[in-house]
Amino acid sequence: MSQWQPDDWRKLPILQQPTYNDPAELQDVEQKLKSYPPLVFAAETRELYRQLGQVCEGKGFLLQGGDCAESFSEFNAPKIRDTFKVILQMAIVMTFAGRCPVTKVARMAGQYAKPRSSDMETIDGVSLPSYRGDIINSFEFTEAARLPDPKRMLDAYHRSASTLNLLRAFAQGGLADLHQVNRWNMAFLENNPQKDRYVDIARRIQETLEFMEVIGVNSSNTPALHETTLFTSHEALLLNYEQALTRVDTLTGDWYNCSAHMLWIGERTRQLDHAHVQFFSGINNPIGCKVGPSMDEDELIRLIDALNPNNTPGRLTLITRMGADKLEANLPRLLRRVKAEGRNVVWSSDPMHGNTKTASTGYKTRNFDDILREIQQFFAAHNAEGTHAGGVHLEMTGQHVTECTGGAYNLGDSDLARAYKTQCDPRLNADQVLEMAFLVADHLRTGY
Ligand code: PEP
Ligand code: CO
Repeated sequence: MSQWQPDDWRKLPILQQPTYNDPAELQDVEQKLKSYPPLVFAAETRELYRQLGQVCEGKGFLLQGGDCAESFSEFNAPKIRDTFKVILQMAIVMTFAGRCPVTKVARMAGQYAKPRSSDMETIDGVSLPSYRGDIINSFEFTEAARLPDPKRMLDAYHRSASTLNLLRAFAQGGLADLHQVNRWNMAFLENNPQKDRYVDIARRIQETLEFMEVIGVNSSNTPALHETTLFTSHEALLLNYEQALTRVDTLTGDWYNCSAHMLWIGERTRQLDHAHVQFFSGINNPIGCKVGPSMDEDELIRLIDALNPNNTPGRLTLITRMGADKLEANLPRLLRRVKAEGRNVVWSSDPMHGNTKTASTGYKTRNFDDILREIQQFFAAHNAEGTHAGGVHLEMTGQHVTECTGGAYNLGDSDLARAYKTQCDPRLNADQVLEMAFLVADHLRTGY
């Protein structure tokens, strides 16, 4: 067999890619990107792989979340900080109340390319190419804005580098200190029905820390108390970009995609004989693949074997996005087959993408109750099949958006207009995320 090369995908059919008008400019951008430093270091990626190996064996939980699409216009420190905090807050609830180590992976620092259900968008009789994420074109509905521009890849690279820099500073520089936890985001908690439960956890953590202090365990001799690790991930959709950041690790001689620690293949580009599966088969990062309700059991086994031929635990996370109404009919049959064939995978639930609807007011939305129902059914299915419910994959933000209906404040269709900010899919807001964290923690603790 010939050795995998990062450009092999170019010979294969590929979906969801832009058509660039100027091949010379595209090539120039790709050459520049190839000469730029990697965004992540292969050894960090191997640490995530190891942690996911533990999750695969039932000894941990994966929390993956962030924007549906990051945007160039909302590229600022408060936004990065608020999402960072909400991921950590959720992780703390799940670790403490769920008694389970949590691996944190952000959908950040590179989540700029979007698959679309249609190539064209029509508004008032005018049809233009669809918005495909800021790494490709611009959201504005004009012909010039929607033209794919390869230089956007360079912008995406630099923005990813800055985002990653700030995330690393927050993770290592004190913002993640457990002693600070009870001071975080208290303002947003003020009217939250979950406030008492959260305050109680913060108080119990405080007491535990005080006890540990007495017996000599503190921030200066135990780094885990004041720093954390937040890994990065995105859908590796635009392969021109992903290839340019794929490098040989000098320590091992293996290929790694250094645009993020973990990459995933979307539901629309996971065809076995197409470019994305071929590209992913050669990179040594831990990888994910979305699995929707139409997935057939035989096809899933073939896909697993293409992506994880050595059956290594931690290599492959299957991110199921069934929809609350379709999960029962589709997830158990896949769990049963994968278990029967002895394939090692992490099962994670994306309760967002199978539950998208159009509200009466025209907004694309998701009902929080459907999202919770999918999570609940995900745990129930794993419990019934004797498999490990290994993670959740969420579209969420630390901002006070009104994009998903329902939840503790019972947002209705008419509330969506108040703070609907997403450029793509509707996200959970900080309140909804906390409510979800408690639900997941309860499942983790009781095992059901
Ligand atoms: C996404 O995660 O933003 C996405 C497009 O999901 P899927 O591929 O599952 O539709
Ligand atoms: Co999305």
